[in-house]
Amino acid sequence: MSQQKRRRVIAGNWKMFKNQADTRAFFSAFNPLVASVQDCDIVIAPTFTSLSAAVEAAKGTHIAISAQDVYWEKEGAFTGEISTAMLVEAGCRYTLIGHSERRQFFGETNETVFKKTKAALAAGLIPIVCIGEMLAYREAGRTENICQTQFHGSVGALTPEEFSRILIAYEPVWAIGTGRTATPEIASAVHKFVRHCAAEMFDAGHAAALRILYGGSVKPDNIQGLMAQVELDGVLVGGASLDPNSFAKIVKDWTR
Ligand code: 13P
Repeated sequence: MSQQKRRRVIAGNWKMFKNQADTRAFFSAFNPLVASVQDCDIVIAPTFTSLSAAVEAAKGTHIAISAQDVYWEKEGAFTGEISTAMLVEAGCRYTLIGHSERRQFFGETNETVFKKTKAALAAGLIPIVCIGEMLAYREAGRTENICQTQFHGSVGALTPEEFSRILIAYEPVWAIGTGRTATPEIASAVHKFVRHCAAEMFDAGHAAALRILYGGSVKPDNIQGLMAQVELDGVLVGGASLDPNSFAKIVKDWTR
């Protein structure tokens, strides 16, 4: 079931980096480097205040813009939050949901991830729903248990049609920003397990079509090994997506 041809996705998560001027400078260097790339989806997630600059700078290219988070209510007294319609109006096509930094530092739970995912789908956004275990759980042999719980709680109650429109990003917390990438074999094993969870909760067809990205210290010098794994349908890149040359190299090495 993992052999089905799935279109690959290379996504960059800029986290709390790059103001509008930095964003424009990035795109003017990056656009020509990936202009010839046709066979994968390229997504960049800037911070909220740089979204419009990114949308403007990516006009006429194949690069799609993503938010890093969203709120599920349509509008109201929710200071500091951003609605799905606001993201759509700003030109976003994707949104990250449930990134481990949101789960760790901002109280995100599987329940809020589920609500955000539902709302994003209703607005026509493509959610990139993040899951992944912390180091202590990996060391305790609980990786599958944690990923299964996060998967079930975050997306398990979607309808099959909704599920067919999401992407999952597997980002082991111990590999994020640490330089300690999961080996291609470790990443592949968890992806396989997540696909198995998808088959159990939905069906084999939905599981085979699900695109699962790997994230955690992806760099130009380890992308080749990761891309060799058929279970990996793309990557979610943090630090290395901030530099146009290194992110373009990742995009191109995947598409080669
Ligand atoms: P790094 O690539 O910097 O480890 O970050 C990964 C990540 O969190 C992407 O969402």
